[in-house]
Amino acid sequence: MRSRGTAARLGLARLQRLVVVAALGLAACGPGAAQDCPFQTPVCPDPQPSYTDEVGAIINVYCVACHGPGGQESTMPFASWQDITTHSYAGPMQRQLLACLMPPPDAPPLPPDKKATLIGWLTCGAPNN
Ligand code: HEC
Repeated sequence: MRSRGTAARLGLARLQRLVVVAALGLAACGPGAAQDCPFQTPVCPDPQPSYTDEVGAIINVYCVACHGPGGQESTMPFASWQDITTHSYAGPMQRQLLACLMPPPDAPPLPPDKKATLIGWLTCGAPNN
């Protein structure tokens, strides 16, 4: 009897430790962190954003300072539709934007409406429109 009681207490202590570990895990990568970069399922909007009318300008302002001639990432240039298409950069660009990794924290932030336009255009397959 006594030994069973000890076993139960040991079990409880282990359970409490597990709960503490779980709570720590939640605090480190739980809802707070997710809010800074909310998950979103990308969709191709209708009408599709136009590269000529708006997307090209967004990329030029927020990406090309680095991803263009003379920039720190000039070996991965986004300066023209041709650059992006020839090297199949659309997928990597979309992933970096969805993960909130680009533009980097020390660069001017991409406003949410412009980010949505750019992600939408990339999701449409980066058309030359
Ligand atoms: C301040 C400079 C800077 C700006 C602005 C910038 N980038 Fe970058 N980018 C970098 C650097 C440096 C790297 C390579 C190192 C790295 O991956 O962090 C990079 C890497 C990337 C990569 C490749 C990442 C990989 O590992 O596959 C993509 C895609 C990318 N950037 C997209 C973008 C897009 C889209 C924009 C504009 C919205 C942008 N970047 C704006 C500096 C910049």
